Amino acid sequence: MNITLSVIKADVGGYVGHSESHPDLLVKADENMAKAKREGLLVDCHVTKCGDDLQLIMTHQQGEDNEKIHKLAWDTFVDCTELAKQLKLHGAGQDLLADAFSGNVKGMGPGVAEMEFEERGAETIIVFMADKTSSGAWNMPLYKMFADPFNTIGLVIADNMHTGFAFEVHDIKEGKKIIFNAPDEIYDLLVFIGAPSRFMVKAVYHRGTSAIAASSSTQRLALIAGRYVGKDDPVCIVRSQGEFPAVGEVLEPFTLPLLVEGWMRGSHHGPLMPVSIPDSTPTRFDGPPRVVAAGFQLSGGKLVGPRDMFADKSFDNARQQALDVADFMRAHGPFEPHRLPLEEMEYTTMPQVMKKLEARFTPLD
Ligand code: F6R
Ligand code: MG
Ligand code: MG
Repeated sequence: MNITLSVIKADVGGYVGHSESHPDLLVKADENMAKAKREGLLVDCHVTKCGDDLQLIMTHQQGEDNEKIHKLAWDTFVDCTELAKQLKLHGAGQDLLADAFSGNVKGMGPGVAEMEFEERGAETIIVFMADKTSSGAWNMPLYKMFADPFNTIGLVIADNMHTGFAFEVHDIKEGKKIIFNAPDEIYDLLVFIGAPSRFMVKAVYHRGTSAIAASSSTQRLALIAGRYVGKDDPVCIVRSQGEFPAVGEVLEPFTLPLLVEGWMRGSHHGPLMPVSIPDSTPTRFDGPPRVVAAGFQLSGGKLVGPRDMFADKSFDNARQQALDVADFMRAHGPFEPHRLPLEEMEYTTMPQVMKKLEARFTPLD
C-alpha cells in the first residue's frame, strides 16, 4: 500500500523563552490530530516536540503537498497559537508568517518534510528533528549515511546498496535544484553541500530502485520573511534497513557533534548535540543546538513507536564532546567563527550598524 509520511513543524510559542514547548500545546495538537484520525483523513499521527518546536508526524494516503493535510497542520498551529497567547508564552505564533492559509504551508513559515512510498514488509523510519539550527545541518549527516563507506559499511558489502544513492540538492538563494549521483560525483556534490547555508540536501533516492530514501525540510524563514524571525529548526525523514542504511548507520553520523549555524539569536555556530526528546531543552546560551531522533516501524501506515533513539548511552561521548566544543566556541564571544560570517548576519541589526557608521569610514592612506 502507498503511504505518505508528512512531518510538519512550527514554533508557535516557547516555554520558558525559546527553551521548551509547553505541554498544554502538545495536548491541544494531539486533540486535533486524533479528530482528523477519527474522521479518516489521517491513518495515524504522533505529536512531539524538539525544544520550542511543535512537531506533527502524520501518516495518510493523500499524497505529498496535499491541501487537506497542510490545512490540518496550519489550523492546528493556529489553535496552539491561541493557547500560547492565553498562556503568554514567548513568541506566540512566531513561525506563522501568513495571515491565512492558502493551499500549502510551504513558504508560510512551518517546516515540511514529506515522502510517499510503498510500505515494505518491514518499514523502518527515523524522524530527525533539530532545534536552534537550519536545514543545512542535515547535509553532512546525509552525506555520511548515503555516500560515506567509513560510516555506512552497507555501501561496500550489501548487494542491495552497492549501486549508491542520488542526492537532490537545492540552492535556496537562487531557487534552483540539481541531482548528483553518489559515489560517481561525490567531489562535485561536496563542493556544494559543504556550503550548507545555501545548498541543502532536499532528498536522497536509491539509484537501483529510485525509491525515496530521505526527505528534509529546506525552508529559510529569513528569506521568506525578509528579516530574522527565528531559526528554521529543520526536520528530516530517513528510511532504514534492507536497501537503505541500517538504523546504526543512520544514527552514526551524529556521534560527531558537527558545527552548525543557529545558536543564540540564530547568529552563532555551535555543536549539534544528539539528545533524548526530554533533553531537547536548549537552555545554555539558548543552546547548544539539539537533534532528536524518533524511530518507528510502520504497519499499514500505523506508527508503531516512537523509540527515542538518542536516549541510548552510546551517545554519551558525543554529548560530552558537544559540551566541550560548546565551551570552546563560547570562549570566542562575539568573534567569528563562533559568530556567523557577516553575509549571514544580513537579517540582524548588523547592516544598520554598518550604515550608521558608513560616513565615519575614510579611505586608507
Ligand atoms: C530562537 C533563538 C533564541 C532567540 C533569543 C532572542 O530560536 O535562537 O536565541 O533568538 O532568545 O529571542 P527574542 O528576540 O524572541 O527575545
Ligand atoms: Mg522560539
Ligand atoms: Mg526552535
